[in-house]
Amino acid sequence: MMPSNCPPQSPLSRREFVSNAFALGAGAALPVRGAETKEVGRLGPIVGHTEETMSFLWMRAQAAGEYVLEVTPENGGAAKRIAAQAEAAQDLCLHWRVEGLEAGSRYRYRVLNGEMVIAGDAEQVFATAPKAASAGKVRLAISSCAKEDAGSRAVWKRMAAEQVDAVMLIGDTPYIDSTELEVQTRRHQEFAAVPEYQELLRNRPCWWTWDDHDFAGNDSSGLAVGKENSRLVFTRYRPQAAYGDGKEGIYTSFRYGPVEVFMLDARWFAMTEASYASPVKPSLLGRVQWEWLQEKLLASTAPFKLLACGMIWDDKENKELDDWGSYAHERKALEKFIGDHKIPGVIYVGGDIHASRVLKYPTQKAVGYDLVQFIASPIHNSTIPSLNVYHPDLVRSAVEPHVFLVMDIDSTVTPARLSAELVNKDGERVFAYQLDLSDLTPA
Ligand SMILES: [Fe+2]
Repeated sequence: MMPSNCPPQSPLSRREFVSNAFALGAGAALPVRGAETKEVGRLGPIVGHTEETMSFLWMRAQAAGEYVLEVTPENGGAAKRIAAQAEAAQDLCLHWRVEGLEAGSRYRYRVLNGEMVIAGDAEQVFATAPKAASAGKVRLAISSCAKEDAGSRAVWKRMAAEQVDAVMLIGDTPYIDSTELEVQTRRHQEFAAVPEYQELLRNRPCWWTWDDHDFAGNDSSGLAVGKENSRLVFTRYRPQAAYGDGKEGIYTSFRYGPVEVFMLDARWFAMTEASYASPVKPSLLGRVQWEWLQEKLLASTAPFKLLACGMIWDDKENKELDDWGSYAHERKALEKFIGDHKIPGVIYVGGDIHASRVLKYPTQKAVGYDLVQFIASPIHNSTIPSLNVYHPDLVRSAVEPHVFLVMDIDSTVTPARLSAELVNKDGERVFAYQLDLSDLTPA
């Protein structure tokens, strides 16, 4: 897919230029163009979307060519080998889709280029998702708003130390503030180059969605010019199983043992069409994403269902429009849908506001139970105390840098339980909040 707003006559980008230089002759001296020509080393490998029997692995190669991913069961058995081509036209990003795996099993992997082992660290091990049909426990790390600073790096280390099974990054991960292809590409590279980030994600899956700063800029909506570039780079750097409907948006979902997570895209479609919930108001999710979400929610058999996006699910009460408070008509439609279909276990997750909160809404009448929202932000060091506003439904809050939620979801107990702790980079527990599935079951 070509980005629609690329100048047709633009000279080769720095990235294409460097890639071509490699393609023409590995080892040839690179022309130097001042500070601009910083060489991008190998990025990754990291683990992306992972299910019971399938996993995506990702790497950005240093040079064009064929790269073979070799995956071997940790307990022994035959290796699978999957070849992929690193091409300059795709910014040398490699996506391998590994199929035919066993649920709840561990696999070693390495990357080869011909006879040469490109990435063969002993820590390159991942586990497939536990069987959804059996009772199980999983531990997720969830947060938003990360930079490449020492504090963010300490958070990646702490997430690994907490031995989370999977990671969800829900926007401003990273900060880009541009839809230019060059800027999007450079920022994704810089973010992916952080060693602690690579170490965290080389042995557990990650899912991402974007918020305003990685999509286009502060308080941006789907009207942002050049958003096709942001989506193109996202599809290169984020190993997901699906990106929206394949043409628009980046929403996706995954089942991981006792939880199903819906990574919503609250940017691409926002303000671009009239709302499915009210024809005189703008849409947030857009009709195509709303139809997808309804279908997936109805089909879900997971005890807990997380609806995650960068935006918070209420009003920030500042001048900005990018929150569900500006689209209350769509939140109301969603809650009516959950209530009408008696869907248990739904939980809201948001980020963005550089403060962390838990809210419990009196939604008995519409939904059949009280909905809870968890807000986790920021991974970096910059908090915004003024966004930790009064709300009658607030049950926890903290204005604390370098934080993430550790969410333990356990269906081996009855009723199934979700225990969340807000943890900082030093492992300190900032607050905790627990829910039983019986709290989230319509009467
Ligand atoms: Fe942020």
